[in-house]
Amino acid sequence: MSRIEKALEKAAQLRKKENGTDSKLDQVVRSATGPDQQGEEGGPAKISHEGRPVQTLQIDHPMIFTFSDPRSPIAEEFRKLKSTLVNLARQGDLRKTVMITSSLSGEGKSVTAINLAITLAQEYDHTVLLVDADLRKPSIHKYFHLTPKVGLADCLCDGLDLSEAIIRTNIGKLSFIPAGREVENPAELLGAQRMKALVQEMRNRYPDRFVIIDTPPVLPVAETRSLSTYIDGVIFVIREGMVSPQHINDALGAIHRKKVLGVVYNHIRNESLSGRYHYYYHGY
Ligand SMILES: Nc1ncnc2c1ncn2[C@@H]1O[C@H](COP(=O)(O)OP(=O)(O)OP(=O)(O)O)[C@@H](O)[C@H]1O
Ligand SMILES: [Mg+2]
Repeated sequence: MSRIEKALEKAAQLRKKENGTDSKLDQVVRSATGPDQQGEEGGPAKISHEGRPVQTLQIDHPMIFTFSDPRSPIAEEFRKLKSTLVNLARQGDLRKTVMITSSLSGEGKSVTAINLAITLAQEYDHTVLLVDADLRKPSIHKYFHLTPKVGLADCLCDGLDLSEAIIRTNIGKLSFIPAGREVENPAELLGAQRMKALVQEMRNRYPDRFVIIDTPPVLPVAETRSLSTYIDGVIFVIREGMVSPQHINDALGAIHRKKVLGVVYNHIRNESLSGRYHYYYHGY
């Protein structure tokens, strides 16, 4: 059976299961250019794309607005953030590896990283690689409902090839590297030469790729400071009411200020948006 036939058969099975048509099915069929494969998660059908397995993401988290509600004002803010990155790239100031961080924990780094990566992948016809480099508290796989077997930590500890850890998704050209197995020494791992080499590999793998790296907060742990020396740009998340100006100053002082591309001012109450929490992006 040809690959296309296999893909169509799988799509028909899915359609039966889901009892109706679904745009995801179209994506499954469109992406059927390689050998049919059983994905690592054992979840929804995965059909290869450019010879690699594709993971159909099931995102239902309300904070992932770019997926759940792409027309919302918050999704629009992420499009502005995306445009800033794309414009920098067009002007030749290509900051390909961009790290998302904040002063403290829980300010919204991971949801910002995911929303930005999805927007870039949906609207920018280039490969986007989303990396979970928060080895202490990895969370992106949870937002994606995945239980990956390997990830960044396995590349760092065991020399696993980056390509073995990459999960290709059905959202544009979005790929994802999960954090991987639990480790006891994240600060040493992320500060080591091996991490520097991996970031370089991510940067070089595809010349047109954006790499969005979710990281731990700056103040409580050491590794984000070392990471900031390897990457090209930083997006700094500030959650209203959670941090003081002193926190922000200390955190920005600990990373490379010149690399800060912008600030996401998160969780502000904006009455003009029906009292919903709102992301606000400021140029820095
Ligand atoms: N604007 C917002 N409005 C409401 N809830 C939000 C907002 N931004 C983030 N959250 C919620 O706050 C929690 C923390 O968000 P997130 O995981 O993105 O933070 P983080 O900075 O990555 O945290 P950590 O440092 O623990 O990794 C999540 O439950 C998320 O859904
Ligand atoms: Mg996080």
